[in-house]
Amino acid sequence: MPTPASPQLLLLRSTAPLARGTRRAVYQHPDDPDALVKVACEGKAALQRDSGRRFSSWTRRLGLARLGVRAEFRRELREIAALHLRLPALPECIAGIYGLVETDLGPGIVVQKIGGRDGGLAPTLGAVLRAAGIDEARRQLILRAGACITRSQARLNNLALHNIVVAPDPVHGERLVLIDCVGEKTLIPVQRLCPWYSRRLTAKRLRRLLNRAACAAAAGVRAGSP
Ligand SMILES: Nc1ncnc2c1ncn2[C@@H]1O[C@H](COP(=O)(O)OP(=O)(O)O)[C@@H](O)[C@H]1O
Ligand SMILES: [Mg+2]
Repeated sequence: MPTPASPQLLLLRSTAPLARGTRRAVYQHPDDPDALVKVACEGKAALQRDSGRRFSSWTRRLGLARLGVRAEFRRELREIAALHLRLPALPECIAGIYGLVETDLGPGIVVQKIGGRDGGLAPTLGAVLRAAGIDEARRQLILRAGACITRSQARLNNLALHNIVVAPDPVHGERLVLIDCVGEKTLIPVQRLCPWYSRRLTAKRLRRLLNRAACAAAAGVRAGSP
């Protein structure tokens, strides 16, 4: 088990996260400008610590309280590893995942940082659509990403507007990158066992994504109108 003096333990606690999702906080990697570290949000980590306390000191000693977060990280890593095995390179529509680390905020996962034009993190697709609306170019952007995801045959769990970011692209101006939701969440890996079902599910989720994109853009227009 690494100690605070250990070089493997990343120190994040004293810095502010760059972003927060519903479950995880996202930090700049202290040693790599092109990487981020995701850890469970404080509330969630505390919840897991408390549930560990409730179960017994044995569960804590066995590390069961942190199993949930680690299991989630491993699921993502497994899916990215499967893509690396299947394809010559990771598709540009899926952010890279590099490995697991221990941090002073608990277990973390190191991922590729997708930067935006302003030097910060790339904005989410939801934020862009709400701010700038949707036109034919943006529809094509979503369709292009959809084709890339379909070709990759990646198994996904939640294709939501906040799990996709809009990154600058030298050829098309913009491209979409999935930064969350790779890997299957179900106990029985139905998508892995049945590729046909996986393809159908992805197609359905892409159709739903286009609908959600239109709704987000409309909501943005309504919020901006007098
Ligand atoms: N690889 C990444 N590059 C750029 N921004 C990211 C990346 N991963 C996450 N983010 C930002 O952090 C937010 C939360 O990350 P996410 O992994 O989706 O957390 P959660 O698992 O809680 O949903 C995202 O909505 C996005 O704004
Ligand atoms: Mg997310």
